[in-house]
Amino acid sequence: MHYLPHADRYQNMEYRRCGNSGLKLPAISLGLWHNFGHIDVLENARSIVRVAFDQGITHFDLANNYGPPAGSAEENFGKIFKDDFSAYRDELIISTKAGWGMWPGPYGDWGSKKYLVASLDQSLKRMGLEYVDIFYHHRPDPETPLEETMSALDLIVRQGKALYVGISSYKPEEASNAIALLKELGTPCLIHQPKYSMFDRWVEDGLLNVLQQNGVGCIPFSPLAQGLLTNKYLKGIPTGSRASSHRGNGAIDEGQISEDKINKVRALNVMAEARGQNLAQMALAWILKDKQITSVLIGASRPEQVLDSIGCLKNYSFTTDELKKIDSILH
Ligand SMILES: NC(=O)c1ccc[n+]([C@@H]2O[C@H](COP(=O)([O-])OP(=O)(O)OC[C@H]3O[C@@H](n4cnc5c(N)ncnc54)[C@H](OP(=O)(O)O)[C@@H]3O)[C@@H](O)[C@H]2O)c1
Repeated sequence: MHYLPHADRYQNMEYRRCGNSGLKLPAISLGLWHNFGHIDVLENARSIVRVAFDQGITHFDLANNYGPPAGSAEENFGKIFKDDFSAYRDELIISTKAGWGMWPGPYGDWGSKKYLVASLDQSLKRMGLEYVDIFYHHRPDPETPLEETMSALDLIVRQGKALYVGISSYKPEEASNAIALLKELGTPCLIHQPKYSMFDRWVEDGLLNVLQQNGVGCIPFSPLAQGLLTNKYLKGIPTGSRASSHRGNGAIDEGQISEDKINKVRALNVMAEARGQNLAQMALAWILKDKQITSVLIGASRPEQVLDSIGCLKNYSFTTDELKKIDSILH
């Protein structure tokens, strides 16, 4: 069926400035890591993207290797874009990445200029786009000189294949060096994409300071710890959940859902209810409480989850007592 986006899609979403840049991102962005591959149902994927855009989610995050199989999330997004969104290209911020293994041989992984330039060309073809808005180096490469990787990002922007560039999973010192190199090259680092949730707080140990000092935005991924920070695993592992699906490629599995984790989830769930939210909403709100965070990057396996998660925007302030209690539960 022909898609017409909601006329009031910009009414309720909050947009936050990305570091010191001119770009604003929605407080909630949608990632296509899982649930958008060829193993998934395209019409479900389409509904998720439509519902998101209808709610003012203008930012969609991909990577060369999302699927499975690798590349298929970009292909499916390309189909959805062509059918439903090509008239709205200028309302969208589309990102992709390269940095994890993508094709055989020495040129399909890590951080060489050879890999990054070829990979973005492939991504653009798969998505049917002329350019992406943000191109990321997906993870630091311990062997390639950082100068080479950053000059590849700079080149890609000068070629017009990306408007902005970012880095993902770089530790504080690596991020600081990458940001300085990009500045010298004249292509500022727009944004950093780190893993961050109540269960994984490494960014608080230096990275957020580096980003703040340099005016670089921050878009945390896996804010729900892949679904663990919701009420879905409280009574075991439901069929159809990510942990039950054996998707591979870094997806959560049964082994990561320990009794200790679930006890913490239970205590957090009680707190969320007392705040009038569900746990997914409290987990997202807990990240968005910090105005330095540009956007929080959620995943969804159904359109209803997007609507549910967006509910976090109704209340993302916490009292000092609530924050202390969360810290003590997580300890
Ligand atoms: N840069 C990187 O290295 C990197 C790595 C990983 C991810 N990312 C990015 O971050 C995005 C998000 O990652 P993620 O998918 O792990 O995020 P997440 O939001 O932590 O987990 C998403 C999963 O949580 C469950 N869920 C979502 N909303 C829910 C709700 N309201 N109630 C109950 N369950 C809910 C769903 O699980 P079920 O499927 O079980 O329903 C969904 O698939 C990715 O798509 C990708 O764009 C980047």
